[in-house]
Amino acid sequence: MALAKRIILASRPVGEPKASDFRIEDCPIPTPGEGQVLLRSIWLSLDPYMRGRMSDAPSYATPVPVGGVMEAGTVCEVIASNNPAFAKSDIVLARAGWQTHALSDGKGLIKIDPKLAPISTAVGVLGMPGMTAYVGLLEIGRPEGGETVVVAAASGAVGSAVGQIARIKGARAIGIAGGKDKCDYVKNELGFDACLDHRDPDLAAKLKDACPKGIDVYFENVGGAVFEAVFPLLNAFARVPVCGLIAHYNDTQAVAPTWAPSLMRAVLTKRLTLRGFIVTDFAARHGDFLRDMSSWVREGRVKYKEFVTEGLENAPAAFMGLLKGANFGKQLVRVGPDRS
Ligand SMILES: NC(=O)c1ccc[n+]([C@@H]2O[C@H](COP(=O)([O-])OP(=O)(O)OC[C@H]3O[C@@H](n4cnc5c(N)ncnc54)[C@H](OP(=O)(O)O)[C@@H]3O)[C@@H](O)[C@H]2O)c1
Repeated sequence: MALAKRIILASRPVGEPKASDFRIEDCPIPTPGEGQVLLRSIWLSLDPYMRGRMSDAPSYATPVPVGGVMEAGTVCEVIASNNPAFAKSDIVLARAGWQTHALSDGKGLIKIDPKLAPISTAVGVLGMPGMTAYVGLLEIGRPEGGETVVVAAASGAVGSAVGQIARIKGARAIGIAGGKDKCDYVKNELGFDACLDHRDPDLAAKLKDACPKGIDVYFENVGGAVFEAVFPLLNAFARVPVCGLIAHYNDTQAVAPTWAPSLMRAVLTKRLTLRGFIVTDFAARHGDFLRDMSSWVREGRVKYKEFVTEGLENAPAAFMGLLKGANFGKQLVRVGPDRS
């Protein structure tokens, strides 16, 4: 009998996740009941938010229970259907999690047309990360022509789109990324005006040189040392969409807010806007996003890079790598063949 595979949260990580926090299990391939479809995963999306789901600290979403299947967005093929809305061989965007097969009652499944774009883009540039960049930058950052936009994790799924959209809107885009290869790609391939290495001990001075008129929009993906370099350069009325704080996801204790007073003073005197957001807050913009981003991708104005790990069993290692910058582009796991 063919078996399905799934990856379970074995224990809640303390600090950096480790291999023993995950467990891979074999199980029978489930049989769809009335109204259900059976999905076979092709692409599994790995995203930094999954670190939050592994923890039971209070957050905007419910954690994965210990013993539960790790959550994820996936691109799947319908391989059996008892649901009239879906036929065998349909390709769908689903939240099937870290497993080879899953049942669904059809709610929340979105059909994907493989003729329009590579199906993996439904969890990348034309999916959640692309939408995050689009709404965070355009709804909160609101860059204007000639302004300076800074974004870190600039070669990644969200950051790469942020800088390219900023350029489309006529702003200067300054990226921050880990290492020379990523910085060269961001500047030379993606067309950012400059890209700096966050591990460079002179980051603050180099950022100042790269932003001679200060920073108008800082798209916050990282926190930590990058924010400390950016903070003194924020202009009056600067906007800071707070999208992610990946430098802190493995923190085990709250950092004493020694510089909270300076931050609040700057918020007041420079009239800064800092606004946290979750991509789903802007669900109403999804149609605009798909229209704009698909044409920018088609026209070559937004480029994207995918970083593919082969096999579900390698998802834990790929995820641990993602939190440390081992990925170069959108982190995907190929769970099964694409026959679309
Ligand atoms: N608010 C929302 O709705 C929402 C939705 C999607 C994503 N996000 C957030 O957006 C951010 C980017 O996500 P993504 O999916 O595009 O991931 P990604 O950029 O493809 O991958 C994560 C990258 O973060 C960088 N990084 C890790 N630790 C760092 C550190 N200490 N300092 C600086 N950079 C560090 C690494 O790149 P380098 O090698 O360049 O350091 C790594 O490759 C994350 O914070 C994520 O949580 C938020």
